[in-house]
Amino acid sequence: MGEAASKKFYLTTPIYYVNDAPHIGHAYTTTAGDVLTRWHRQRGEEVWFLTGVDEHGTKVERAAEQGGVTPQEWVDRLVADEWLPVLETVDARNDDFIRTTDPRHAIAVQRFWEVVRENGYVYAAPYVGPYCVGCEEFKLAGDLTPGTGEYEGQQLCPVHGRPVEQVEEDNWFFKLSAFAEQLIAYYEANPDRIEPVSAYNEVMSFLRQGLVDISMSRSSVGWGIPLPWDEKQVVYVWFDALLNYATAVGYGADPESEAGRQFARTWPADVHLVGKDILRFHAVYWPAMLMAAGLELPRKVFAHGWLLVGGEKMSKTKLTGIAPSEIIDHFGSDAFRYYFLRAIAFGQDGSFSWEDMSARYTAELANGLGNLASRATAMVNKYCEGRLPAAGALTAAEEMLRTHLAEVTEQADTAIVALDFATGIVAVKQFIDAVNLYVTEQAPWVLAKDPANEVRLHTVLNTICESLRGIAVLYYPLMPKAMESLWSQLGADAAIGAIVDQRIDSVGTWAQLPAGSVVTKGESLFPRLDDVA
Ligand code: MSP
Repeated sequence: MGEAASKKFYLTTPIYYVNDAPHIGHAYTTTAGDVLTRWHRQRGEEVWFLTGVDEHGTKVERAAEQGGVTPQEWVDRLVADEWLPVLETVDARNDDFIRTTDPRHAIAVQRFWEVVRENGYVYAAPYVGPYCVGCEEFKLAGDLTPGTGEYEGQQLCPVHGRPVEQVEEDNWFFKLSAFAEQLIAYYEANPDRIEPVSAYNEVMSFLRQGLVDISMSRSSVGWGIPLPWDEKQVVYVWFDALLNYATAVGYGADPESEAGRQFARTWPADVHLVGKDILRFHAVYWPAMLMAAGLELPRKVFAHGWLLVGGEKMSKTKLTGIAPSEIIDHFGSDAFRYYFLRAIAFGQDGSFSWEDMSARYTAELANGLGNLASRATAMVNKYCEGRLPAAGALTAAEEMLRTHLAEVTEQADTAIVALDFATGIVAVKQFIDAVNLYVTEQAPWVLAKDPANEVRLHTVLNTICESLRGIAVLYYPLMPKAMESLWSQLGADAAIGAIVDQRIDSVGTWAQLPAGSVVTKGESLFPRLDDVA
């Protein structure tokens, strides 16, 4: 079918619990997703970037109760005041925002579970066992750790460090156990479906221990989507939430309708980005659900690490959450995006510190890239009346930068498509360092002293601006605001079109900026911190 050729690159973030406001751990996943999807757009691909919120379940229900409002009022308020604004704060360009209270979601969730039930994978049975409300998870004995101190004698959830609750209720079960062998075979044949390797290994060892069936409904929870065949129960929050990835792109709609065509062009997801704490849901339960309904499986689940505070996962429960605006008000959204993807290897844990962030901001952004851009635009203004000069014959020094840019483009592309953001960013940074070194060595301010050097001076300034053109495109998905500004300072909009329309595969083509382009010395891209505070 011709349709298959136009499948969109489809990336999702987890949908976030709206029991509280977002912290930088949540913003981290969204930012990574945003950078990756913007990168794929720059490659000329059609992209669909979905994020959203997980509004049902006990955790949200209890938060609303404590807040003295109904769950619906609670989620409406938090979504409007916190979760939608944070997307703007981090400068995310998502295509859709799904709420699990959306009717489009609820109807499709009911349809999905009807199908799975008709396929014979749902049965009634009592659940007796531990439940962690923080994780919204039925826990297995092996998941828990014995409590000490005030929790002596109790079983704790290792993620939340709090005692689990004992639950006893008549539920409906999903026959998860029926899928263990199929999942093992599937992942053995497709090891790249779970990354990084540590995540793959964790899932495989979990699967090899065998799977037990799991409740897909709750009879003691009121805030959720009613089961179509038993309205006294609601769909277990995870088995409601996971479905957002399919319902948001039209699962369950008539194939001839617009939503149905959207599903055909979007599903399956190319990447589900998740934190490592929710890997099992995404790499075991979710594909089993899809198998039970006869749907295609996602192409990749990538589990990133945690942002740590004092060696532990940053969380609101532990009062260690930092709001994204605390950092972004000071450093700006571009620096936030840069820092977290550059300083922490994606897939590993990392700690945030103000000192490290300030040091990198100053060294790499303000002094490294910002200074290069302001020197370049200032010199074109001073020596060439603000018009990009034409280059004369290129010497080895210019040829080296030209080759380097083409190489860096390939390196960054390979790394970022593989979600190795830090390697991609560092490749570009090395090019920036090389251009800065070139400026120092060529010393255009010395050339400018003697009119006999005019051609050489023009060649050097042209080379610096041409290098900045490449840097701007390569860093645009990471730092859209600053690179947009650099682009217009270079006069590139008028000369070669909007930055958003530039393609990664042509970054390495040299001499794109035409001589005569108007170069302006605009605001500094990364103001010194004293000026920001
Ligand atoms: N609602 C579920 C996900 C359902 S997806 C079908 C959930 N929500 S959450 O709000 O608790 O967390 C969502 C995601 O936020 C985590 O998977 C992770 O990506 C991110 N993080 C939350 N705290 C984090 C850190 N301290 N560090 C890094 N990411 C963290 O789980």
